[in-house]
Amino acid sequence: MVKQSASILNYEIGKKEEKNWLITETTFLPEYLGKTEAIFTLGNGYMGQRAASEEKYPNEKRGLFVSGTFNKFPGDQEVSELPNAADMLEVDIFLNGKRFQLTDGKILSYEKTLHLKNAELIRLVEWESPDGNRYQLEFRRFVSLANKHLLAQRITITPLTNSAVINIRSGINGQVTNSGTQHFKEGEKRLYHQHTLKMEQETTTSHIEFVHYCRHQFLQHNEVIQPENIIFMERRRIFMEYKHIEVLKNESITLEKISGVYTSRDIENGEAWKEETLEAFEQAGDYQTLFTEHKNAWEVEVWEKFPIVIEGNDFHQLAIRFAIYHLIGMTPAHDNRMSIGAKGLSGEGYKGHAFWDNEIFIVPFFILSQPEVARKLLEYRWLTLDGAIKKAKENNYDGAMFPWESAWLDEGEVTPVYGAADIVTGESTIIWSGFIEQHISADIAYATWQYYQYTGDDDFMNRYGYELIFSTAIFWQSRLEWNEQKQRYEINDVVGPDEYKEHVNNNAFTNHMANWNIQKAIEYYDRLVKNNPAVLQPLEEKWNLAHYRKLWEEKSAKLYLPQPNEQGIIPQDDTYLQKEIIDLTEYKNAEEVGTLFLKYNLEQVNDMQITKQADVLILLYLLEDLYSNDIKRANWDYYEPKTLHDSSLSRSTHCILAADLGEKEIAYQMFEEAIRIDLGPALKSSDAGIHAASLGGIWQSIVFGFGGVRMVDGSLRIRPNIPESWEKLSFKIFWKGSELSIVATQKDVKIRNESNKAVSLFVTENEVVIEPKLETTFSLV
Ligand code: BGC
Repeated sequence: MVKQSASILNYEIGKKEEKNWLITETTFLPEYLGKTEAIFTLGNGYMGQRAASEEKYPNEKRGLFVSGTFNKFPGDQEVSELPNAADMLEVDIFLNGKRFQLTDGKILSYEKTLHLKNAELIRLVEWESPDGNRYQLEFRRFVSLANKHLLAQRITITPLTNSAVINIRSGINGQVTNSGTQHFKEGEKRLYHQHTLKMEQETTTSHIEFVHYCRHQFLQHNEVIQPENIIFMERRRIFMEYKHIEVLKNESITLEKISGVYTSRDIENGEAWKEETLEAFEQAGDYQTLFTEHKNAWEVEVWEKFPIVIEGNDFHQLAIRFAIYHLIGMTPAHDNRMSIGAKGLSGEGYKGHAFWDNEIFIVPFFILSQPEVARKLLEYRWLTLDGAIKKAKENNYDGAMFPWESAWLDEGEVTPVYGAADIVTGESTIIWSGFIEQHISADIAYATWQYYQYTGDDDFMNRYGYELIFSTAIFWQSRLEWNEQKQRYEINDVVGPDEYKEHVNNNAFTNHMANWNIQKAIEYYDRLVKNNPAVLQPLEEKWNLAHYRKLWEEKSAKLYLPQPNEQGIIPQDDTYLQKEIIDLTEYKNAEEVGTLFLKYNLEQVNDMQITKQADVLILLYLLEDLYSNDIKRANWDYYEPKTLHDSSLSRSTHCILAADLGEKEIAYQMFEEAIRIDLGPALKSSDAGIHAASLGGIWQSIVFGFGGVRMVDGSLRIRPNIPESWEKLSFKIFWKGSELSIVATQKDVKIRNESNKAVSLFVTENEVVIEPKLETTFSLV
């Protein structure tokens, strides 16, 4: 069990209809601002606004990230990253001449609450300024799901001891950077129509133009007032100062600040796009009007569409809402030229790059909940084919070798080359993943197949899916190395999912997934030859498939696939099982991940049986028919004790596998730990951003793990096995275009077919048919 420090988060403040919807930070800790800045990020897939405060603090990381707007700062050590766009949140408040700042004066009460249902952030503070005057301040904000360009804020200030004279400075601040790297050239700054501030900026090398707007409105006694004001323009900053606003004791003044961001990536063409955005921005309503539209969008597009209800454990209910909230907020569902970063849009971590996290951990959520979004995410991979072909060529391979980290469509590999300090040598550690962590190509093929199996979307396959599977299989056949002595093909010098083992030969996950990829290509090729030559023809011409069809079969027949040894253990790679075993208790119990590296460097860890995250075990989950339960159990017993779960991707896989093995308590324990990756008390671990894959993993743990949903041999199977403490688990999924509502208890499972066509599936082991618009109950005891 992970050791835990006292939490500053309270999950129980929401009552009645707000129950299990609110997460509240109850204490302001200026040295730990990153925690709620990240986990309270507001997003709509277009942009993500880190939850920094209106007023600034030394340890803060303000961050506004717009999907798909990568820029590469010149220099060998740099890679494309999502630039931190100009800050529109900033509002400096001066109360009777004293700057409102929680690190000065006294905090009399404090609550910062993320309201998951409405996606609104509310901060309530009672503050005594250094001169002894008390004030109440309420800050509200949201990033609109209904109008993806807008961020709205509302601040209400009430003097409690005396009347107050208030000054406010607010505007757009482009002085922000990505930890010092400035990605923008400054553009035009100006005021329109006395009220709309504009600041333009352009990324330095990718030349994406950003237009930021903001406007302010003050309300007193429900009337709009016009305080005395003056405009300031500085380098990379434009703001208004509103002066001498008089507010009587116990009366209030409200400021509404509406901001907008638009970029040249949004537009197809047209010279007039900037003018059009100005018009669109100026037509946007006030806070309340925008909030009503935003709230409805969350209700109708998210919570009603794919609700998950867990009865029996309040925190688990809240945790799945938190996961869905972020999965929606981080996903650019509007544009297939973009994907999801490993930290979503909540921080600079991993530079906004897409990893296998998406295909293996996040895409399944969308396949079953919003298949059209899953399709877009896979289309993104298809659109990156040129980059993958480029990477293959650069490495002397054929086909498509997908980059380990991906940004621009045609860019290929963007993994940085150097990472953290090596504790022994004092040098920067080389990140080998960009060179030799190659399983991602098979992971993309796997997700493509999974999408197809669940949706039956032939149009997708014809346009994109077959090509993804064929081109990756072509890569794999060229990647295989002939071992003359052993008379077999091997895949040598790789990093598998366990990144604590570098330059290994025959990583079981990689070899098996590559083989799976090739077999799928053979199967689909043969099927198309027979049933759909018209679809095959352009692919045949582009890829010379008949030639590779032969090679796929010949080479894969001789590909070495690591098998269980006498104890049933599948060797993670050629040398893992011969390495030293050390006691990992200390590191397994540590509050932060990666503590092992305070003592050892990666080279030393390479020589020990220590696994960072699920490796053999994720193979047994993804290719679940490959081995029997006995083999799965033997490998669980061997590898889990050696696994540090130092990647947030690890626990959910373990949870699902344990659930599959009928190990309810272990599955439960893993789930408990998985949901605490971002929601737990560790104060620093989310600083660089939330853990996107882990949030997808939480959904999978519930639906695939405890809900027992799985696609087996092309059929849907539902075999719920919910934790003892849950009374009921309800959720919805899509299967081949039909929506199914599922309610599982300890005793039975009710499945309602919401669609107009009959659905056949397996419930536990029995094949059943559920007629349109009908509900059937199946006993589980
Ligand atoms: C993990 C990878 C993962 C990456 C991004 C790393 O720590 O080992 O599996 O893709 O983080 O989340």
